[in-house]
Amino acid sequence: TDLAHIRNFSIVAHIDHGKSTLADRLIQQTNTVAERDMKEQMLDSMDIERERGITIKAQTVRINYTALNGEEYVLNLIDTPGHVDFAYEVSRSMRAVEGSLLVVDSTQGVEAQTLANVYTAIDANHEIIPVLNKIDLPATDCERVAEQIEDVIGIDASNAIRVSAKTGQGIIETLEAIITHLPPPKGDASAPLKAMLVDSWYDAYLGVIVLVRIMDGVLKKGDRVRMMQNGSVHQVERIGVFRPAMTVVDQLGPGEIGFITASIKQVRDTKVGDTITHDKAPCAAPLPGFKPSVPVVFCGLFPVDSAEFEDLRDAIEKLALNDASFSSEMETSAALGFGFRCGFLGLLHLEVIRDRIEREYDIELITTAPSVIYNVFMKDGTLLPLHNPADMPDLSTVDHVEEPRIKATILVPDEYLGDVLKLCQDRRGIQQDLTYAGSRAMVVYDLPLNEVVFDFYDRLKSVTKGYASFDYHMTGYRTDNLVKMSILVNDEPVDALSMMVHRDRAEMRGRAMVEKLKDLIPRHMFKIPIQAAIGGKVIARETLSAMRKDVTAKCYGGDATRKKKLLEKQKAGKKKMRQFGKVDIPQEAFISALKMD
Ligand code: GTP
Repeated sequence: TDLAHIRNFSIVAHIDHGKSTLADRLIQQTNTVAERDMKEQMLDSMDIERERGITIKAQTVRINYTALNGEEYVLNLIDTPGHVDFAYEVSRSMRAVEGSLLVVDSTQGVEAQTLANVYTAIDANHEIIPVLNKIDLPATDCERVAEQIEDVIGIDASNAIRVSAKTGQGIIETLEAIITHLPPPKGDASAPLKAMLVDSWYDAYLGVIVLVRIMDGVLKKGDRVRMMQNGSVHQVERIGVFRPAMTVVDQLGPGEIGFITASIKQVRDTKVGDTITHDKAPCAAPLPGFKPSVPVVFCGLFPVDSAEFEDLRDAIEKLALNDASFSSEMETSAALGFGFRCGFLGLLHLEVIRDRIEREYDIELITTAPSVIYNVFMKDGTLLPLHNPADMPDLSTVDHVEEPRIKATILVPDEYLGDVLKLCQDRRGIQQDLTYAGSRAMVVYDLPLNEVVFDFYDRLKSVTKGYASFDYHMTGYRTDNLVKMSILVNDEPVDALSMMVHRDRAEMRGRAMVEKLKDLIPRHMFKIPIQAAIGGKVIARETLSAMRKDVTAKCYGGDATRKKKLLEKQKAGKKKMRQFGKVDIPQEAFISALKMD
């Protein structure tokens, strides 16, 4: 296709504003998929995404569109993940296209992720088409939302297209706007090959599938190509496009988006943002701005049943095949036995992986407290990146500790503002900005990432009844008074419960933790002290009193079957328990104890 008849675009939106529904409608309108093959949310392929209604992997579709002027166009839509954890993937896929549809729910208005994503699009020099969705709903208010887009985002919304992705109203207008308002791609077919690696994933039959956007040159089957970041060379076996089913083509030229396979075994070898060129006639320089995405949140995953360790290893290896930003290494915990220390892009990423292990691989897990990476500066001048609070060296050898900070943007209806400010303040936040967009407040906070990884989303949702939206990005590291708090049950440290905390908040957190554990740990035949400590110093303490009698005592010693039944019941109850010294701690205790309120 000649460049003038290609348009490449993505759709940016806040979660639930209708991105996937609109994409489905565009595909359907252009008969890209036969009606009978059309299922809802064509672009969200994994079950878990469908269930949670979130798009995780960027996907793409090529649409042929005959415009009202009679000319044939090729439209390439790249679907971007909508969640903050995947900000880097979003920013890369945006560099592969020239424009964006900015979808805003006309009954809701601009939200935090609308802002984050649209700024990424603006950074990528996109032409932006505002789309007001859900106009079929009675609560639609296009004037207000258009005004808000102009006020808050600062782009012209006077020609915003009014759409119902549900009924199909406004879909033709959207397609026409794409070909008239978005610029065609640029590129030189005779120049050396320069292609961007937009995404990659593992397919059981084809190996690694690589999504590419050709900038210059032509890519053909059989070509020997080189990944410029790691220097690896591969022979292209298959070239194709997504319609959205995989369809083989002979070649891809400038401006085109498609996939290649090349017997690549691991997703790790295909870094998003890398530049692909011909091995024999390479381009002079790679595309600018490559940075590998790195995990920022870590936690331990342990099987509840230690016999399932090998199954867990297997599950983790399989998941890692398809996810280059998920890292893992083996870990042994005195309390939990063998498991893995895993790294994630963010909390949602963590939850998705944990859910998949539990559901798809049927392994019950104990998840330890999520932790961020602390920079621990030792007195001898060395720097220790700390991924696991259990590894924190003795305080006497530590000079100072730095923690990662984030810039968080929260949009919230006025009436909940007070609660949101309090929440951020409680989490050691520093307010940076407070402005209004209509009746919604927009607050910007500088927060420690570690205060956000526990249950910040949950708290934010509950104090605002779900009306707040939230987005963040990392800003850097800062020194603070951070210490490791250990939890001791019956004088035995439970390493899985140790955590890094701010010194000023340690007593409060310690007290909350031991009080909770007191409720969560069942009584035993003896007294159990539960303590929180920093170094050797106990900062909070509770005592769980001993059970008065044997449970079977009330059976008068006579009824043997009843006695046996009771003992069996006790045994079953123990299955989900972990033994620490002489104490059994139920699995839920770990999860519950780590939630703050
Ligand atoms: P993520 O994939 O989670 O980012 O969400 P999304 O932005 O893709 O939203 P999605 O397309 O899943 O739509 C969210 C909800 O809004 C779904 O229940 C849709 O059926 C509904 N929806 C989407 N467009 C319209 C519309 O035009 N009118 C009405 N009434 N509902 C719509």
